[in-house]
Amino acid sequence: MNHLERKTLIVGNWKMHLSVHQSSLLVHRLTERIKVHRNVEVILAPSMLALQPLSLEMDHRRFQLCAQDAYPKDEGGYTGEVSFAMLGSLVQYCIVGHSARRIYFGETLEMVRDKVEAAVRNGISPIVCIGETKQDRDAGQSRQVIHDQLTTALMNVTSRDLEKVVLVYEPVWAISTFDGIIAKPDDVAKAVAYMRMQVRELYGERAAEKVSVLYGGSVNEHDVRSYLEVPGVDGALVGAASLNYHQFAAIVDEAYRIRIKAEA
Ligand code: PGA
Repeated sequence: MNHLERKTLIVGNWKMHLSVHQSSLLVHRLTERIKVHRNVEVILAPSMLALQPLSLEMDHRRFQLCAQDAYPKDEGGYTGEVSFAMLGSLVQYCIVGHSARRIYFGETLEMVRDKVEAAVRNGISPIVCIGETKQDRDAGQSRQVIHDQLTTALMNVTSRDLEKVVLVYEPVWAISTFDGIIAKPDDVAKAVAYMRMQVRELYGERAAEKVSVLYGGSVNEHDVRSYLEVPGVDGALVGAASLNYHQFAAIVDEAYRIRIKAEA
């Protein structure tokens, strides 16, 4: 399988930023700037509150909508939570197992596994974040951590459902680092190859070639190309730079340019 058979995905994770009004303004600005390309999907992950209004007003040919998290049970006495079942008609994607969830909210490997399963069951593509912390890295544990996160997350996913799953390599030490610590394309190449190898062991050669694997961690308009050119990387999960429409539109433009050149 040629890597061009996989789409390029650019995800904007707005995290806990922007009111509904500001979210709507950002989508408006992005609509003016972002072109439609059939092989580049632009996925926006606003706060839970903004999902409904944005879904009504945005151009669905241009953007796909993504939740940042959801609860794995479909319904019940889980005060304060929103389920994948409730989001099913609203979003196409949901981020699962983001390091912020794992670190600040104590999300375990098993919780991530249940969320991935619930997403798939409700027709939502989970965007599963996988990556080691600085501590893991310093201790030489990166591969073990990636292995454990990936194999548990996919534990209840059948080979047919794997087509809906998107994986992201997000080394925690490279997320929102404004002080210069970024992942080198070479680090990313090794981790992504290792992740595909894990998928190959679990689901076989064809599945490993088909699954989308993105990179995330301090991606901006200047370095996005160096990540998108890494073999096996199908896109980027962008945090801070996705809040600025100049930067995010420039990132999407780079993705278009790389795609158009590769397809020529
Ligand atoms: P960042 O965030 O681009 O600000 O590092 C990445 C993410 O959303 O995890």
